[in-house]
Amino acid sequence: MRDDTRTIAVDLGARSYEVMVGPGLLAEAGTFCKPFLKRPRSVIVTDETVADLHLGTLEAGLAAAGIESHAIRLPPGERTKCWPMLERTVESLLELKVERDDVVIAFGGGVIGDLAGFAASILRRGVRFIQIPTSLLAQVDSSVGGKTGINSPSGKNLIGAFHQPDLVLADIDVLDTLSGREFLAGYGEVAKYGLLGDLPFFEWLEAHGPALAAGDKTLRVEAVARSVQAKADIVARDEHERGDRALLNLGHTFGHALEAATGYSDRLLHGEGVSVGMGLAFELSARLGHCSQETPSRVRAHLSGMRMKTRLADIDGDLPDADTLISLMSQDKKVVGGVPAFILARDIGDAFVTRDVEASAVRAVLADALAER
Ligand code: GLY
Repeated sequence: MRDDTRTIAVDLGARSYEVMVGPGLLAEAGTFCKPFLKRPRSVIVTDETVADLHLGTLEAGLAAAGIESHAIRLPPGERTKCWPMLERTVESLLELKVERDDVVIAFGGGVIGDLAGFAASILRRGVRFIQIPTSLLAQVDSSVGGKTGINSPSGKNLIGAFHQPDLVLADIDVLDTLSGREFLAGYGEVAKYGLLGDLPFFEWLEAHGPALAAGDKTLRVEAVARSVQAKADIVARDEHERGDRALLNLGHTFGHALEAATGYSDRLLHGEGVSVGMGLAFELSARLGHCSQETPSRVRAHLSGMRMKTRLADIDGDLPDADTLISLMSQDKKVVGGVPAFILARDIGDAFVTRDVEASAVRAVLADALAER
């Protein structure tokens, strides 16, 4: 094993798999993927942006191990997670004669991972797939844990399946080509792991976040590996989100409503919505007396120090009023009987899930945050 690479086990019995985190993994992808292939052939699902930047390296890495590959290139962006692109992907996989024992490679950010994973879950009643995530957000969150799916006109991620990959290769070198904004959007999910369950990790991020964002590779491996380990631990306890896994949605109830209010557009990336949402979740926790009044300020100080969006005032353009934002929360997947789940916190590193939150408290937090704009 290379000593610059970390391997994290996702322990799910017969569906267990490993996540490798390190530099230069694309060039060696053939070596790592080959044990999972019954024949030396694979189809890569990717988007045009990732393909232009990195597909050649991946194809060469597969070819070096004697693996023939074909690529399906989709348009980049959240709008690709839709029924027509799912149909196009599945039909292309069939045209490329992907068989039941073949392995599909999902090569891209969260959109491609979710879409290709879902296509793999329904193709011939389920084929295996390997995740090769290329965004920080996908490396630390969406490529691990088996959530796959697409968006519906009624809301985000409302159509999908749990389908665990056979392997995840997180090559931290590909993060070099992310824009600063994309990197920081992913950083929101990294900080989430500290905020929800690991104060020492949050303190580590307070100390090392700026150097990490500046490109330090050793710190990058450490941050991605610690995030993946945190996610793997939670997924192993609660694969199908009957309990603890909902903790991973810290900041997401607010965040999804803000993403819907901004039309899932460039105005607010998913990780930015999570960052603002985490600030609001800690604010709500403090108002309800679960954590100290100083805690939300510490959370926001770190995130804004990293130049992330943390307040509604950081979102450009108009936003709807508090009641409209609350009604957007009721389209969240986690709604039961019309009541959304909130992830609140007793402290940094000590989050919990509750539905016992008065709408008036949520309305007051949102109304105050809107008034700051
Ligand atoms: N992204 C949240 C989860 O995988 O459960």
